[in-house]
Amino acid sequence: MNISSRIPRFYKMSVEERKQHIIERYGLDEEATNQLMNEISLPEETADKMIENVIGTFGLPLGLGLNFLIDGKDYVVPMAVEEPSIIASASFIAKIVREAGGFKTEATDRVMIGQIQVVGCPDFEEAKATILKEKDMLIQAANDAYPTLVARGGGAEDLDVRIINDGDSEFTKMLVVHLYVNTCDAMGANIINTMAESLAPVVEHLTKGKVYLRILSNYADKCLAKATCVIPPRLLDTDGFTGEEVRDGVVLAYEFADSDPYRAVTHNKGIMNGIDPVIIATGNDWRAVEAGAHAYAARTGQYRSMTKWSVDEAGNLVGELELPMSLGIVGGASRVHPMAKVAYDLLNIDSAAELAKVVVSVGLAQNLGAIRALATDGIQKGHMRLHSRSVAMAAGATGELVDTIADKLVEAKEIRVGYAEELLKEYTK
Ligand code: MEV
Repeated sequence: MNISSRIPRFYKMSVEERKQHIIERYGLDEEATNQLMNEISLPEETADKMIENVIGTFGLPLGLGLNFLIDGKDYVVPMAVEEPSIIASASFIAKIVREAGGFKTEATDRVMIGQIQVVGCPDFEEAKATILKEKDMLIQAANDAYPTLVARGGGAEDLDVRIINDGDSEFTKMLVVHLYVNTCDAMGANIINTMAESLAPVVEHLTKGKVYLRILSNYADKCLAKATCVIPPRLLDTDGFTGEEVRDGVVLAYEFADSDPYRAVTHNKGIMNGIDPVIIATGNDWRAVEAGAHAYAARTGQYRSMTKWSVDEAGNLVGELELPMSLGIVGGASRVHPMAKVAYDLLNIDSAAELAKVVVSVGLAQNLGAIRALATDGIQKGHMRLHSRSVAMAAGATGELVDTIADKLVEAKEIRVGYAEELLKEYTK
């Protein structure tokens, strides 16, 4: 069932009303309902099983990105993030893109890479040839180390060998075996590490070298997801700017980022503003996705824009975002963290590839939200309104006073904790 992700006036509701609305709208079961209604998102007993030396848990706001229409299906997107404006901006752009037909996506097979580092081979070329000759045996041995993956339709599929630091000293010259594994719906770190470790003795035997590292590569360039959108300029009109001006500003913002690493880092940070919150809310490893995304942005040898914005023949703005997406919907914290379970109930996705497609769509929306604002009014106007609420809270305001003090700060154009404290004293005396 495709439930519309357009929820007009959602932002106007109280948190309690939003929860009720979402529970009813998505028919959440008792467990998810209790979890959403429970103030504690992660019980300490669970946290204590997840990491070491636990002394508590650390909360983040969990909000919903609305309006996302991706390949004809509606998604409300759970996003865990501390920065104001992100969810509002993503939802705003998703609404525009939805009017333009929504995001279109594609994804490669979910092939992750395991690396085995071999040093001290008496003859590196011969070692490489031997490994390649024994490829089928090694792939079989890798699959024997993780038979349940093969049963799920995945498994090790291919293998490659590179010699690196050729020409360096014998100490640093090395042979690197790449094992390509279809990890299906898992992120695959455990699977790949198990396979790589199990192959190590055989690889040592075949190469007559010594194996050191055996580990997954987070440069998941064989596990890509891509989102595109095509937006007619009329949908980009804003107070003071025509749609064509906005479109051109967006393209020039992209050109700037694509040519200048100083700008690219901030531009891409804005993309990760959308991506990380979804990765976190779904219990995935956001450091892995971050690392892979930035490496992919530098694949030409220069760190560039992750997105591409251009104008098609009809004058439409065309956006594209392709990134490695090493994430999963089984294993890890994805099914352990009780709030992540609620996130999956809301997302209603069937596969890791589908989640990857949602993630890149949010990243693309987030980028457009940022550069559209930067190329027109600037971001401070919207940001300051939201920032003022954090400042009011930092000064000690609670309940309705948060908005009252925030309004005064904006009105006076003085968004400082000191001033908020003064105002608070006046209101509470
Ligand atoms: C702020 O968190 C993100 C932006 O700086 C992104 C950008 O500059 O494109 C607004």
